[in-house]
Amino acid sequence: LHVIHIAAEMAPVAKVGGLGDVVTGLGKALQKRGHLVEIILPKYDCMQYDRVYNLRALDVTLESYFDGKLHKNKIWVGTVEGLPVYFIEPHHPDKFFWRGQFYGENDDFKRFSFFSRAALELLLQAGKKPDIIHCHDWQTAFVAPLYWDLYTPKGLNSARICFTCHNFEYQGTAPASDLASCGLDVYQLNRPDRMQDNSFHDRVNPVKGAVVFSNIVTTVSPTYAQEVRTAEGGKGLHSTLSFHSKKFVGILNGIDAEAWNPASDTFLEVQYSSNDLQGKAENKLAMRRRLGLSIADAKQPLVGCITRLVPQKGVHLIRHAIYQTLELGGQFVLLGSSPVAHIQREFEGIANQFQNHEHIRLILKYDESLSHSIYAASDMFIIPSIFEPCGLTQMIAMRYGSIPIVRKTGGLNDSVFDIDDDVIPLQFRNGFTFLTPDEQGLNSALVRAFDYYKNNPVGWQQLVLKDMNIDFSWETSASQYEDLYLKSVARARAAAS
Ligand code: ADP
Ligand code: GLC
Repeated sequence: LHVIHIAAEMAPVAKVGGLGDVVTGLGKALQKRGHLVEIILPKYDCMQYDRVYNLRALDVTLESYFDGKLHKNKIWVGTVEGLPVYFIEPHHPDKFFWRGQFYGENDDFKRFSFFSRAALELLLQAGKKPDIIHCHDWQTAFVAPLYWDLYTPKGLNSARICFTCHNFEYQGTAPASDLASCGLDVYQLNRPDRMQDNSFHDRVNPVKGAVVFSNIVTTVSPTYAQEVRTAEGGKGLHSTLSFHSKKFVGILNGIDAEAWNPASDTFLEVQYSSNDLQGKAENKLAMRRRLGLSIADAKQPLVGCITRLVPQKGVHLIRHAIYQTLELGGQFVLLGSSPVAHIQREFEGIANQFQNHEHIRLILKYDESLSHSIYAASDMFIIPSIFEPCGLTQMIAMRYGSIPIVRKTGGLNDSVFDIDDDVIPLQFRNGFTFLTPDEQGLNSALVRAFDYYKNNPVGWQQLVLKDMNIDFSWETSASQYEDLYLKSVARARAAAS
C-alpha cells in the first residue's frame, strides 16, 4: 500500500507530545511491513533540523488556495528516521510556521487549515495516487472534508481517508465563517450531520468533520474508544461517535523499540538490559549526582514523572505525589512543562521550595535527553491522569525497568495491570493502579508500591525484569492499522466494480 500521513508533529524533529512519537513509530513499522510510507509536515522554524537528513528544496513552487487567492509554497524534502518527508513552507504574509513554537497561536485554525489544503494540493500536483491518506488530530482533520468536497472532483481520488484522534479534548472549533478561508463551503458543512459543533451551532468542529467524512476513524486505545462514546468522556462528540460506531475503533499505540531501548540508548550514562541490571543502578546514581540529590541510601526508591503539565494529566495528583513520596521516604524527579500559565507558575513555586532539597527535584522544561535518563534512573513512574487516550510514558518506563503507578483510565487501563488484581492472569500483572482520581486513590497505589519495593526486593526485581521484556513495539498495532487499511481499500474496489 501507498500510505501518506499528514500531521502536525513528527518525532524527533517536531515533537510536542505523543502524537510526534506515533507518526514516526507507526510510519516506520508500516514501512518495515513493506508499504510505501510518506509524511507531510509544515516546515516550522523551530524544528530540529539536525535530525533531518538530505534536506533540500524542490525546484517547483506549489500554489495553494487560501482566503480567495493563490499563495506560493516552497516544498522541501528530507528523510527523518528513514522516512521520506515533505515539508511545506508557505510564503504567506502571516508567516504561519515561523512563530518559534508549533502550536498555541491565536490563528492556529488558519495555520492548519491552510496546511491541510496545501498538503492535498501537493498530492494532486505531484500526481500521487496514495491508497491511504492518514491524518491526525484536529490540525489535519480538514483533510477529510477537503478531499471529498474539492479534491476528488479534481482527480485526486485513489485514496481512502483514515483519521486518528489522539485526544478528543482538542477539537479545534472556530466560528463557522472561518471555514471559508480554505475553500470549504460553510453553508453545506455547518449542519448537524456534518461539521457543525454539537454544542455551539454557529461554530464548526474539524474533529467532528473528520469523523463524518473519513472512511476509517481510530483513536489510540480500546478503553478510550469506549469512554468517548459516553456523555462524560466524549467531550460533546459522543453522539457523533456512536452514530459512526461501525467505522470507529481503538488501537493501542506502540512505542518505537529502537528509539526507546536501554541497551543501545546513547543518552544514558550506561546502557543496560534485563540481563544486566547493574547498569540501571549506575544510571540512578548518576542521575542523583547530576541533580544534587542525596546518594546516601542506594536502595531509596526514586519516583519519576515526565509529562505535559495540563489538567488531563492530574496535576493536583502529581503535586500530591511529590509530597507523599517524601513522606514515604522516597525521592521524586519531575520533568515537565505547562502551556497553562498558572500551572507553570504553581510548579515553579514548588520547584523553588525544593530547590536545594536532597530528595525532590522539579525540572520545568522540555528536555529529550534528560527524559531518557529519568526513565532509566527511576524505580517507579507515576501517571495519575484524569483521562488518558493512550499514554506512551508508562510503556517507555516499563521498557526501562521503571514500574508504573497509574490511574485506570484509557490506554493506561489497557497496558498496566495491578499486581494485586486477581482477575488478571499473573503473567500480565505489571504495575500498580488506582481508580478514584483523588489523593486517597493515589495513596492506595503509591503506598502499596513502596511496601512491595521495601519488603519484597526479590519480587520487585522479578517485576522489573518482566516489565522490561514486555513487547510494546509497534508490530501488533501496525498490523491492526494495516488490516483496517486493506479492508477499506477492498471495500472501495468492490463498490467500484
Ligand atoms: P501526551 O502526548 O498526552 O503528552 P504521551 O504519554 O502520549 O502523552 O507522550 C508523551 C511523550 O512526550 C513521551 O515521549 C514523553 O517522554 C515526552 N515528554 C513529555 N514531557 C516531556 C518533557 N518535559 N521533556 C521531554 N519529553 C517529554
Ligand atoms: C495524545 C494523548 C496521549 C497519547 C498521544 C499519542 O497526546 O494525550 O494519551 O498517547 O496522543 O497517541
